[in-house]
Amino acid sequence: MSIPSTWYEVWQRKGERFVASGRAVPSRVELAALSGYDSRTSALDLDEFDRQRDHIVVSLAIAATDTVYEVGCGAGALLHGLEPLCAGVGGSDYAPALIDVARGVLDSDDVEVREASGVNPLPRYDVVVSNGVFIYFPDAEYARLVVALMVAKARRAVGVFDVNDLARREEHQEARRAAYGADATTGGLRQLYLDRAFFTSLAADHGVSCVIRDSVMTGSINGRYRYNVVMSRRDGSSRT
Ligand SMILES: C[S@@+](CC[C@H](N)C(=O)[O-])C[C@H]1O[C@@H](n2cnc3c(N)ncnc32)[C@H](O)[C@@H]1O
Repeated sequence: MSIPSTWYEVWQRKGERFVASGRAVPSRVELAALSGYDSRTSALDLDEFDRQRDHIVVSLAIAATDTVYEVGCGAGALLHGLEPLCAGVGGSDYAPALIDVARGVLDSDDVEVREASGVNPLPRYDVVVSNGVFIYFPDAEYARLVVALMVAKARRAVGVFDVNDLARREEHQEARRAAYGADATTGGLRQLYLDRAFFTSLAADHGVSCVIRDSVMTGSINGRYRYNVVMSRRDGSSRT
C-alpha cells in the first residue's frame, strides 16, 4: 500500500482497516489505536488514556446533566469514555470510515462526517471539546475558525486538548526525529504548532475566560510538548 500523503488519508485508512476486519465494535485497545494512541511517540497505556479523560472531565467540570460534543471525534474513543458520565454526546470527524466505527460504539444520533471548519453551531451542547485534533489542522487561520465555531456551539465551556506548543517546537521535532528518523520533520507530514497566546487572545476576542495547562499525558513523548486549553463563558460554572 502507498504511503499516505495527507493526514486525512492516515485517518481514513485506519478506519478502513478496522471496517475491513468485518467486526462492528472495537475493543478499548483497538479504539485507542484508532485514535492514534499506538504510535512510537503517542504510545499510551489505557490508564494514561483514562487519566486524560478524567482531566478533561474535571477541567471542563463535566456533570451528569451536561451534553458534550466533540470536534474530530474519530472512532469515538474519548466520547465512549465520557458517555456514561454525562447526559449525552455527539460528534463529527472528516474521516467517514472512523465515523462508521463511532456509530457502532456510541449511543448517539448526532455522529456525522463533517470537516472541523464546517461544524454546525446548532444544535448547541453544554460543552464542546476537541482532543488531539488541532495538530492536524493546516494553519492557524483554520484553527481560529474552528475555535469560533466551537464557542458558538457551546453553552458553557470549550476544551481544546493536546495542542502542539509552538515554544517547544524544536525540542519536540528533535524527539520525533529520534523516534522516527529524519522524515518525521522534513519529508513526513507536518503537524501544526500554536502559541499559547494565540488562544488567550482568541478567548479575549470571544469574551470568554481562558485557562491553559501542560498536558497530563506525560507518559507519551508527544504529551511532553503539548498543552490543553479550557475556555468558559463568564456566566458559566466551569471549575477552571
Ligand atoms: C488523534 S485522533 C483523536 C480522535 C478523538 N478526538 C479521540 O480523542 O479519541 C485525531 C482525529 O482528528 C480527526 N481530524 C483531523 N483533522 C480534522 C479536520 N480538519 N476535520 C475533522 N476531523 C479532523 C482525524 O480524522 C482523527 O479522527
